Amino acid sequence: MVHLSRVKRGKQAQKPQQEQDQGESAASPYVYGTHYATEELPEHVMSEREMPADVAFRLIKDELSLDGNPLLNLASFVTTYMEDEAQNLMTDAMSKNFIDFEEYPQTAHIQNRCINMIAHLLNAPTTEGDGELDTIGTSTIGSSEAIMLATLAMKKRWQNKRKAEGKDWTRPNIVMNSAVQVCWEKAARYFDVEEKYVYCTDTRYVIDPKTAVDMVDENTIGICAIMGTTYTGQYEDVKAINDLLKAKNIDCPIHVDAASGGFVAPFVRPELEWDFRLEKVVSINVSGHKYGLVYPGVGWVFWRSPEYLPEELIFNVNYLGSNQATFTLNFSKGASHVIGQYYQLIRLGKHGYRSIMQNLTKTSDYFADELKKLGFLIMSDGNGRGLPLVAFRMKPDDDRLYDEFALAHVLRQRGWIVPAYTMAPHSNQLKLMRVVLREDFTIHRCNILLEDIKAALKSLQEMDAEMIQKYTLHLRAHSAKKLPQQHAHYKNEKHSLQGKTGKTHGVC
Ligand SMILES: Cc1ncc(COP(=O)(O)O)c(C=O)c1O
Repeated sequence: MVHLSRVKRGKQAQKPQQEQDQGESAASPYVYGTHYATEELPEHVMSEREMPADVAFRLIKDELSLDGNPLLNLASFVTTYMEDEAQNLMTDAMSKNFIDFEEYPQTAHIQNRCINMIAHLLNAPTTEGDGELDTIGTSTIGSSEAIMLATLAMKKRWQNKRKAEGKDWTRPNIVMNSAVQVCWEKAARYFDVEEKYVYCTDTRYVIDPKTAVDMVDENTIGICAIMGTTYTGQYEDVKAINDLLKAKNIDCPIHVDAASGGFVAPFVRPELEWDFRLEKVVSINVSGHKYGLVYPGVGWVFWRSPEYLPEELIFNVNYLGSNQATFTLNFSKGASHVIGQYYQLIRLGKHGYRSIMQNLTKTSDYFADELKKLGFLIMSDGNGRGLPLVAFRMKPDDDRLYDEFALAHVLRQRGWIVPAYTMAPHSNQLKLMRVVLREDFTIHRCNILLEDIKAALKSLQEMDAEMIQKYTLHLRAHSAKKLPQQHAHYKNEKHSLQGKTGKTHGVC
């Protein structure tokens, strides 16, 4: 039914012409009627005058709508969903500086409770009696800061030992997989430690324990083993490295980078020995903002005992009357994320985390099976033997004109962010794609993605060679244009794995 309405005679009060024109002079201006709507936002120099709060809010919000949708971002390990209660607690804590222990003692207590609970998950060694354990830990901004601190601790401990023995202590090195996350390259470079890489091959994407142990020499400060590599999510064989070091009687510590696996393996593969149960493992990092289920940024780092965290790295800060031992790169940071972590730990308990991680493992196995049916090769390990992610590639011998990058571009048009990248150096420039399953990736969403992958393949199959080339070149140019320009001065660096080998880093 159409409802017709008769027009009434108007009695609207007329404003003076001048006030109408100014628009924004009214008490609450309508954003798109103000002069701001017809001007560029300040980009280079701060404006002289204030901008009304609602205008600033709306214009920034509008611009951010061009960012990808975090829920559809299957590239990232980082949490994109938290309950409203957690968000409220985090918002309330945003104005607290975490380091002000004196003013916010409960926040400091909450951090310590998180440290206890996570250290127990990592099987911190227990000693006789009911007292405190030897294990020590701290919160960080993420795994990168945690890894910087762990690298410093390994280096300092090695140097102290060498100095005590009257030996050269100036040429430390660290052994690691070439598939390490870029933060390891940074740690090594920033702290003057030589990087010794165990390279991947086109069939092995994790560290080879024997090669790693064979590379250890008197200058090695430690071996890094990854629980969940960024490329394929596979768990490295920490136990094999541990056992080889023991069998050969080599005094070399292991640091486990459990950025992603630290909150997955304890729930999905509790029997897998990779943590403090292994004697040679002296320190472990975990990202709270990945499978710890907190928004970015919070991480955690633990040392087996004070023996592995030399005293000279610790600063006792007497801050407003309270003495605190700190080991961090930054002083101030927000308190919200530590509080968010505590919320998740007590809200979910072990049962909650286990249910989520097991669901994700099931869904990733299902997704991998379906991709296999579509003809893809699966490069990640299923059934809880790696992170709940699926790394996959197209069959090499396929007579097709498009590649993984083209498929990623088509999916992007539908909103899905599924990265395509090349494997770590020495693996024959293998191209792959990776879908990281986070807690909000249900089977329902998984099936929608599968349908979209089928549709994308179909549209690519229908294009001829020239069309595909034009299409991918156009899309690549378009996405490159959207990103901030790389600084011309640093464009051609040759010191990193990226600079030397063209390694592309899997998104985190
Ligand atoms: C294995 C590994 N280590 C370290 C990092 C760096 O972690 P963060 O982003 O928490 O600094 C990542 C990031 O994804 C990672 O996957």
